[in-house]
Amino acid sequence: MSSAIPQPVIATLTKSAIFLAVTLKPEPLGDTAVRALCGDLPSLLRAVGFRDPGGRLSCVMGFGSDAWDRLFGQPRPVELHPFREIRGVHHAVSTQADLLFHIRAMRMDLCFELASEIMSRIGDGVANVDEVHGFKYFDERDLLGFVDGTENPVDQDAADAAIIGEEDADFAGGSYVIVQKYLHDVRAWNAMPVEHQEGIIGRKKLSDIELAEAAKPTYAHNVLTNIVENGEQLQIVRDNMPFGEVGKGEFGTYFIGYARSPRRIELMLTNMFVGNPPGNYDRLLDVSKAVTGSLFFVPSATFLANVTAEGAVVAPAGTEGAADAEASRPVSDGSLGIGSLKGGPARE
Ligand code: HEM
Repeated sequence: MSSAIPQPVIATLTKSAIFLAVTLKPEPLGDTAVRALCGDLPSLLRAVGFRDPGGRLSCVMGFGSDAWDRLFGQPRPVELHPFREIRGVHHAVSTQADLLFHIRAMRMDLCFELASEIMSRIGDGVANVDEVHGFKYFDERDLLGFVDGTENPVDQDAADAAIIGEEDADFAGGSYVIVQKYLHDVRAWNAMPVEHQEGIIGRKKLSDIELAEAAKPTYAHNVLTNIVENGEQLQIVRDNMPFGEVGKGEFGTYFIGYARSPRRIELMLTNMFVGNPPGNYDRLLDVSKAVTGSLFFVPSATFLANVTAEGAVVAPAGTEGAADAEASRPVSDGSLGIGSLKGGPARE
């Protein structure tokens, strides 16, 4: 069984987040700085996070498929590929970026400080950054007014859903993440009767109680994203965040889903955008436009700690990497110290 320590993928939900989706310049001049950052991330987290130990600062770093080849080469995670666009009733665009930083804390200033430190290290090699500042909205609601996150798996179930096990032994302790930025037409949404909105989501708006199966339309969001294979529900770990700019009339949801295989998130997306059966699509998309889409591999913290200026050192499966001790040193909230999580069910 691998002893690789995961990044804080399943960190508990926070009040604030910054999502940085970074595209690197074509010339690999900045690659050394990116590799150096991999090993430095835990100490940066400690330095910024310790200024408010209750602030629960954490950061997950992910790599797009091309960036992986460029920075680390072989071996590569078996299911890593660029985000695949979907053209169904609605369009899931692919705007694949090279790096993702998912920064979470109870206070935006902690997120902001860490994001600035990261950019000051790698900024010279960066061509473009899609930066989104997310906030929690009242009782964990999205900007459509529904509570978002209720059915997320927790504890060991979350680890089983999101953390790679023996199915890809070289990369055990890693994860895959898909992000999409959605912009909502809140005027159209708010013009709908609440009962209709509840049918689209599959839950009551005020109380967040799930509708009875018989009362859910076949296109309800929680029907189309419920994937069952061989009697087992294929779960993912989400930490969506509202964002927006009222002056621009921009109301958004930043979707972020972690899973031990990208396939289960892709199945959900196909159900939503194409429909299941085709045509029976997610009506949420009539008022929500996906304007970005990227897939990243999130290596274990142990892997990151072992990255050198030249590339990556993949410790043979089942052995401890040289820098395990560094990787497992807790940051202020212990978020990198979530333990050596074992793989769950076999790969789908
Ligand atoms: C416009 C963007 C989205 C919004 C506003 C949204 C909102 C919601 C809400 C309100 C719920 C019900 C409460 C909960 O269990 O969290 C939910 C559930 C869920 N969503 Fe989304 N979602 C969005 C996009 C997505 C995408 C792109 C995926 C996957 C590819 C997804 C996967 C799920 C899953 C798996 C559940 C739990 C279903 C269950 O088992 O009950 N969502 N979402």
